[in-house]
Amino acid sequence: MTGELSPIDKAKFVAAKRAADYVEDGMRVGLGTGSTAAWLVRCLGEQVRDGGLRFKGVPTSTRTAQLAREVGIEVISLDEAKWLDVTIDGADEFDGDLNLIKGGGGALLQEKIVATASDQMVVIADIGKEVEHLGSFPLPVELIPFGWQTTQALVEETLISMDVLGRQSSLRMNGERPFITDEGNYILDLHVQRIGNPRQLSLVMNQMPGVVENGLFIDICDAVVIGYGDGRVEVRDINEGTVEQERLDFFETDNLFTDLAD
Ligand code: A5P
Repeated sequence: MTGELSPIDKAKFVAAKRAADYVEDGMRVGLGTGSTAAWLVRCLGEQVRDGGLRFKGVPTSTRTAQLAREVGIEVISLDEAKWLDVTIDGADEFDGDLNLIKGGGGALLQEKIVATASDQMVVIADIGKEVEHLGSFPLPVELIPFGWQTTQALVEETLISMDVLGRQSSLRMNGERPFITDEGNYILDLHVQRIGNPRQLSLVMNQMPGVVENGLFIDICDAVVIGYGDGRVEVRDINEGTVEQERLDFFETDNLFTDLAD
């Protein structure tokens, strides 16, 4: 073990551990990207190794694919799976309708394709991700590199007529160079601050030439598993209209905590 978990890591862990209950033998499962999703992959890997769980995982990024293989999960492509029983993924923000901002890790395109191809999408998040209005977290928009500055100008101009508070944007960087997604594209982060009409903004963004996809997930998420630093978890299911709360016991001597890097 490399040190005691922070409250936020405990919250992510308990959310992931609870969400692992959604996975059953024989399922095809979308595996999200990010630090919370990495906990899920580790939990599921442990169940494969120690509990005999058998399922096929469709990763949403090269990072997740690598981790899934490392922990012993059978990895297949979305084309092999064709359709999924459930996708479990993190989020940067979620609101009361379980609309999301995703893409903080740059994997929004594969994440949205995989989540949309699933009977059910479950988000795992610490309570700090809940917002009244989406938009404090910069909205990631994936662009093709060709003419990206022209596309950026068009995006900013379009934001004038949208119900948002800000219209600045910045190209995501990886050191001195643009951040490159798994699909070879760029990410533009929109500093809109508050999104009054997420559905409209998502539709308008995706109509612009050069924009591949945006990080707004509207009507895609079915349930959110919210973790707290003291081990509590809350499961909100938007279709069932249910809210369940429980507390998970866990021990930091667990093998899962020997590698906290993500
Ligand atoms: C990856 O592109 C994102 O959509 C992540 O799922 C999101 O940023 C949440 O990441 P964390 O779980 O690391 O906060």
